[in-house]
Amino acid sequence: MQIGVPNQTAPKERRVGITPDVAGRLVKQEFTVAVERGAGLAAGFPDSEYEAAGASIVEASNAWGSDVVVVVTPPEESSIAMLRSGAIVIGLLRPLDRPDIVQRLATQGVTTLSFETLPRTTKAQSMDVLSSQATAAGYQAALVAATALQKFFPMLTTAAGTIAPAKALILGAGVAGLQAIATAKRLGAMVSAYDVRAAAAEQVESLGATFVKLDVEQQSDKETGGYARELEEEAQKRLLMQLGEHVARNDVVISTAAIPGKRAPVLVTKEMVEGMRPGSVVVDLAVATGGNCELSKADEVVDHNGVKIIAPTDLPSGVATHASQMFARNTLNLFGHLVHEEGIRIDLEDEITAGMCITYEGKVTNERVAALLEGGQS
Ligand code: NAI
Repeated sequence: MQIGVPNQTAPKERRVGITPDVAGRLVKQEFTVAVERGAGLAAGFPDSEYEAAGASIVEASNAWGSDVVVVVTPPEESSIAMLRSGAIVIGLLRPLDRPDIVQRLATQGVTTLSFETLPRTTKAQSMDVLSSQATAAGYQAALVAATALQKFFPMLTTAAGTIAPAKALILGAGVAGLQAIATAKRLGAMVSAYDVRAAAAEQVESLGATFVKLDVEQQSDKETGGYARELEEEAQKRLLMQLGEHVARNDVVISTAAIPGKRAPVLVTKEMVEGMRPGSVVVDLAVATGGNCELSKADEVVDHNGVKIIAPTDLPSGVATHASQMFARNTLNLFGHLVHEEGIRIDLEDEITAGMCITYEGKVTNERVAALLEGGQS
């Protein structure tokens, strides 16, 4: 069985789905690994390392024509045309944002396994690409903020006087937010954070940051399954009224708040940005789902009265080597789950496989994507 590793062609994408180390492990498991020429180069993995691991270097059509194709981002039309009917595509395929691509893959007879819909269970943790890539994004967000801010992050005691540490506020303390907190702390900033989930408070404090307490009902993970629920209009208004003073007090705001399958909540309004000191920085990680800051523009730096609002969509690519390494390890663990004596088994009775499966035998199997394609609500 051949596993294909094509070059990622999306603008600014530097990651690769399989690293030489993981290619070597798959070769030992009797897979043939076909890597498109130069696929790993932008992530720091030259063709020679794949060859040394036992993989072969091939042209795009050969990689895309494999039995299983591992991608980082959704394939374009020209790539989908190279996929064989019956092939399996694995990757971050943004099924809810790009149902058109899902439909095309179903029509082509391709089985699609998307990491976005992997169940967040203990058993699936080692395959959790969303978490590994959110870790990379959170780390990068703190570095982007530190670079854009015209202040030091740490307190410095120098012959030229004492420099106060920068203040950073992290909104949303999920996987990316916690990593942004940890990174900003390591750089020496004074960090505070807010999340609507009650469980986040302890995690924020365990990193040495201050949890911001607001008069808004905290959500229990037991009731919501670990994900935040959208706030009622009244609660959202109360949240914004109280958050403004915290935003104004900070040099940096890194926002990561998300509600799965919904528009990201607005947490930093235009008025709040106007309350920040010139030179302050907002890094908005939620721009792909509408943004946490009203002024965010995807992949642009907006300057509003001297406050920079940065909303990158390619943060994990900034640490492409390690982001790819984690992505590839997650994928290897998924192979460990899917492979049985007869080869890869698509068992729709299995929670992990069924959760990830978006298309199978010509049909869209994911109900939310199917509803979107029928013009209904997801
Ligand atoms: P996410 O990317 O969906 O959202 C990021 C954060 O934004 C969440 O912590 C959420 O509570 C917060 N948020 C949403 N609305 C907000 C608002 N209005 N104001 C402030 N914060 C708001 O979350 P992520 O990182 O995917 O993690 C979600 C949950 O899943 C967490 O409980 C995490 O611990 C859990 N998890 C479990 C895993 C497992 O068991 N395998 C793996 C990874 C995460």
